[in-house]
Amino acid sequence: MSSNTPRQLLGGLSAAQFLSRHWQKSPLLIRGALPGFVSPLEPDDLAGLACEEGVEARLVEENGPDKAWQVSHGPFDEDTFTRLPENGWSLLVQAVDHYVPEVAELLESFDFLPRWRLDDIMVSYAPPGGSVGPHVDQYDVFLLQASGRRHWQLGGSPGADAGLVPGIDLRILENFAVQAGQDWVLEPGDMLYLPPGVAHHGVSQSDDCLTFSIGFRAPSADEIVTAFADYIGEQLGDSQRYGDADLQPPARPGELDDQAVERVRRLLLDAIDRPEQIAQWFGRAMTQPKYLDQLVPAEEPTPAAELRAALEAGGELSRTLGSRFAWRQLDESRATLFVDGDAMVCDLALAQRLTSSPMIDASLLAYPDADRLLATLVDSGSLSGFDEED
Ligand code: SIN
Ligand code: CO
Repeated sequence: MSSNTPRQLLGGLSAAQFLSRHWQKSPLLIRGALPGFVSPLEPDDLAGLACEEGVEARLVEENGPDKAWQVSHGPFDEDTFTRLPENGWSLLVQAVDHYVPEVAELLESFDFLPRWRLDDIMVSYAPPGGSVGPHVDQYDVFLLQASGRRHWQLGGSPGADAGLVPGIDLRILENFAVQAGQDWVLEPGDMLYLPPGVAHHGVSQSDDCLTFSIGFRAPSADEIVTAFADYIGEQLGDSQRYGDADLQPPARPGELDDQAVERVRRLLLDAIDRPEQIAQWFGRAMTQPKYLDQLVPAEEPTPAAELRAALEAGGELSRTLGSRFAWRQLDESRATLFVDGDAMVCDLALAQRLTSSPMIDASLLAYPDADRLLATLVDSGSLSGFDEED
């Protein structure tokens, strides 16, 4: 779809219009973003996921057994759900797109954003009256009503120093004033886009209220500076040092003068002002898996010839749910392919196909060295679907 095609998902705006008017700037309510949407998940399925080891799940209880707005972390068991009151709680499960392929498929509709910006799809369930309180998030999010109804209210942009309710597990705003006209009940298939920093409060209005949060992440400046400094630091030799061959006799030997500061500033700028190194680091950083332990390497190395034969016989591979792929062009025929925090050089067209086609089949074998690259990705756990017994 071209960037100027009107999209139902964006309320009739094109991708280009949405990005220039709303992305990171202002909220957008979209009625019927996915008309006739039927949730691929029931509240009971979500409760089941929240009982599984390794799944990140939280339960928020407005009047918890120990305190107000109590947060407990999964895995939960059936007893947890049987003891819960009829209302006043929310169950939140992260990264449901890693476990439920039908939820992951939703991401294909968000191809107007770089895929590597995606964090995950969090799914919440709340009985009538349940919420996580009014709050602010640091991230862009599309709140898709998947089933039931939720009442959303927005409260402007309170800023970083807004007061929070003290003494509780959650970051709930002490003062939340609904802005005129920013008050809606969302039905299944409706969606609300929120940029970072907008105060919001969503309260369930039905006993089947499921909300999908398609969340995007942006590393903080602190994370970027620290992590890039680590990456580049490893490549700088011990002999590259602060140097002052231009030193003049100091008038005041205890003084750290402007020339000294300028020398160290130059050293820092020379070390970091390397666009290709930045790209190599950023590709690795933005494809780091959300949960490292979910990447399961193959027990035995995959022979490239066997993989080729399986694909030629009609087999298919797919990107493992939760695996992150991105690429950057190196020259007219090659790219760096970034997968789950690793980087490898490969054919440019192959990198594009691998990161965009839903299915990876024998047609990819036409690219140079494709069988070996695919075997490497099967071995690291980033591609799934190859079974040696096949
Ligand atoms: C929820 O789904 O309950 C909360 C989502 C959010 O406010 O970000
Ligand atoms: Co939120």
